Amino acid sequence: MSNNSRRKFLKQSGALLAASTLPLTMVELAFGKGSEDTFTFAYISDSHITQIKGNKFVRNWDRGLTRAVAEANLLDPRPDFVFYGGDIAQLGKPEEIDHGLEILGALRGKTHYVMGEHDYYVDLGDYWRKQLGPDHYSFDHKGVHFVVLNSILTHESWMHQKWDSGMDRMKQMARLDNPNGQPFMVGDAQRDWLKKDLDKVSKDTPVVVFSHSPLQKIYKGWNFWTDDAEQVQALLKPFDKVTVLYGHVHQIQTNQIGNISFHSAMATAWPWPYPATYRQKASYMPRLTVDMNRADPFFERDATGWQFIDVHSGRADVNYILPDNTNRKVVFDEKAGHPVDTKYQEPDKRIPPQKHF
Ligand SMILES: [Fe+2]
Ligand SMILES: [Fe+2]
Repeated sequence: MSNNSRRKFLKQSGALLAASTLPLTMVELAFGKGSEDTFTFAYISDSHITQIKGNKFVRNWDRGLTRAVAEANLLDPRPDFVFYGGDIAQLGKPEEIDHGLEILGALRGKTHYVMGEHDYYVDLGDYWRKQLGPDHYSFDHKGVHFVVLNSILTHESWMHQKWDSGMDRMKQMARLDNPNGQPFMVGDAQRDWLKKDLDKVSKDTPVVVFSHSPLQKIYKGWNFWTDDAEQVQALLKPFDKVTVLYGHVHQIQTNQIGNISFHSAMATAWPWPYPATYRQKASYMPRLTVDMNRADPFFERDATGWQFIDVHSGRADVNYILPDNTNRKVVFDEKAGHPVDTKYQEPDKRIPPQKHF
């Protein structure tokens, strides 16, 4: 993206934001320095469309998604595609998925989707796949290799045990701090597929991976966690530049593990508090490279908002535009080798990247 067009985008997004306090989660990425290989895409996530009864849905969540779609359609320059980060539905009902897709159907251009646990556990993803196709695949776009993973699978024995109903299983998985829940995982079959897929990609190609849960271990009690994260990270390790973008956590998180930069997307529905504020087991909390500024529990839209990312030659600079807060910018620092929050963290207070996961 040229400086001119970037300014244009920033100007426009600022103007849109000023007119809106509604939540949306959007990410823009621009790759490459030359004009030919530069492109952008938008990122919307976690709408949790919730059916009340019949054709009545929770209006607030509808509005968040509707607004995100409307503003994505106004992006200038036009994004090459839109990415949806999972949890279209709250309880995975066909009515909720249909309603969400109806709203998302107004998006201009191609949309890619990742599976969220709220889309999956009622029927193990049958309806979602029927509407949207495979839950893991890869594609190449202007010199970048994109991978979509279903990271919210869990143990087969748990998924296929004798449940009273699929909804019973869904409600177990949809809760936080549920002792009957299970950890998410990408699983053996998909990791085998990923290995074969990445074998065909040269190591200097920028790789961007989309998952729903973070492909790192943040907090197990809330499933801000992927159980086989280390194995997935090992497959990504040979590449020079890797970015993992994920939804699910409904808050801003940034981290650097080895060669991999992690960035979360905000939800269009609601923000979760920081797991640090709820944690019961200190041992499960890594120190993230960049923590989020605290969400205001009395402002339901706090920690939701715009985000867009400029990726220069495969490195991501993330611009978080919060509706009622000071905006944030988390930039990959080539010298430091990890993202730094240029808005909130003074150089001497920045947390170094974690090493142990
Ligand atoms: Fe979610
Ligand atoms: Fe989720």
